[in-house]
Amino acid sequence: MSATMTTNPLRVGLRQERVIAPQCLVIFGASGDLTHRKLIPALFELFLQRRLPSEFAVLGCARRPWSDEEFRSKMAEALGDKVTDNQQAWDQFSAGMFYEPVDLQKNEDVVRLGSRLDTIDRLRATRNNRTFYLSVSPNYYGSGCRALADAGLLRDPERSRVVIEKPFGRDYSSAQALNKVVQSCGQENQIFRIDHYLGKETVQNIMVLRFANTIFEPIWNRNYISSVQITAAETVGVEERAGYYESSGALRDMVQNHLTQMLAITAMETPGRFDPEAIRSEKAKVLQAARLADELEPWNCCIRGQYGPGGSQSAPLKGYREEPGVDPNSTTETYVAMKLFIDNWRWQGVPFYVRTGKRLAKRLSEVVLTFREAPVHLFDAAGGSPTANQLILRIQPDEGAEFRFEVKSPGSGMRSRPVEMEFSYDESFGEPSDEGYVRLLADAMLSDPTLFTRSDEVEAAWRLYTPLLELIEDSPWRLPIHPYESRTWGPAAADSMLARDGLLWRRP
Ligand code: BG6
Repeated sequence: MSATMTTNPLRVGLRQERVIAPQCLVIFGASGDLTHRKLIPALFELFLQRRLPSEFAVLGCARRPWSDEEFRSKMAEALGDKVTDNQQAWDQFSAGMFYEPVDLQKNEDVVRLGSRLDTIDRLRATRNNRTFYLSVSPNYYGSGCRALADAGLLRDPERSRVVIEKPFGRDYSSAQALNKVVQSCGQENQIFRIDHYLGKETVQNIMVLRFANTIFEPIWNRNYISSVQITAAETVGVEERAGYYESSGALRDMVQNHLTQMLAITAMETPGRFDPEAIRSEKAKVLQAARLADELEPWNCCIRGQYGPGGSQSAPLKGYREEPGVDPNSTTETYVAMKLFIDNWRWQGVPFYVRTGKRLAKRLSEVVLTFREAPVHLFDAAGGSPTANQLILRIQPDEGAEFRFEVKSPGSGMRSRPVEMEFSYDESFGEPSDEGYVRLLADAMLSDPTLFTRSDEVEAAWRLYTPLLELIEDSPWRLPIHPYESRTWGPAAADSMLARDGLLWRRP
């Protein structure tokens, strides 16, 4: 995306309504992957869009003894062309980038951090206003917050906030315990639990589509919708993240957070107003009403899989167990499919099928609402019976939506056949959407929690999967790992789960 996009007056006008206050963004885990892959690129993008105040600084913190200059040059290297194409802007932006070696477990380091922040405040006029970003190992979220609070760095709720990466806890009880710790360090409105899916334009669009149009909401319920499929398919494998992924698996890595957030936004009730607490309350409520389709025998409604080798002869792909750092006998799932119900007036009896996997046939995230069949079939349909109407919300790539419905096939008869009506972000707006982190970092710095997960939501999401997590822990044989070939659509067992309901997974 180029800086020239800011010339769109509408875009500038809308953005000027929300001005980021002077502040210092402190990144813990600055030598890690997320910082150079997502955070610094997102901040630089905000800079290019002229959305950062001139009184702004980034302080990178990690254990490595880097200097400011080393930090700047490592980040420039990671950003590659983005920096060389915008060298002057980068020089300006990076003049506000600093680095301090900090181990949050060491008191003397945290004290030194405090004085470095004071120095930066004087140098960059950042007015004691700080956003702390914990991009560290999840084991340190609680103690990290505690260290900041003990050093008095979270004392002012107006001028300090903490962003916490996922996973927030490992299960229901650890999430509850972590919530207790972080809430003892600051107020709930200072805590920003990030889920980058909520930063995606298309995920936010689900709310706009539902609540800004009159045609969808009246039919957005069990009377008209027969099932919902939510997919997040990836073509990548575990990459260099075996250390983390081995103890996480797809259920904790993708389902509990990203897929559950998509489900919540798709299924929530209409909030009374567009305000952070109204929206988050509706999301929490719908998650509290959600349950596994078979809570007593969860193995009937969940399939776990793991990718094996695959690809082509010229580009063979390793199986998960052969990936660097992965236990050759690993039983970590790289694929999950499951069936859920939501016990409320709107959704009673409508199955929600959720699936995610690595090394699948295609990179694709989408929400598909399938409508009930017409009660009477008046016309012959191509293929024997009319295709059910479907609304497909394409989260990524090829962001947009499509609606499938039956029309008359040209000719003298009265046969029907399905067609699609399309909306594409690219075609309609002609500019790529911002990365999720651009939106979310800006929102955190603006202290706007709308797109962050509240404590009750995160707990409800963990509670929902507790029967499965317990089963994997106590009787893993009940939820066996089904191998699947890389670059396919996952294990056949997941197809059988839908076939039992007379359905198919969508394979676009
Ligand atoms: C992350 C997961 O949260 O989301 C990764 O830890 C996954 O395993 C990634 O690859 C997917 O994000 P996106 O935006 O590419 O769909």
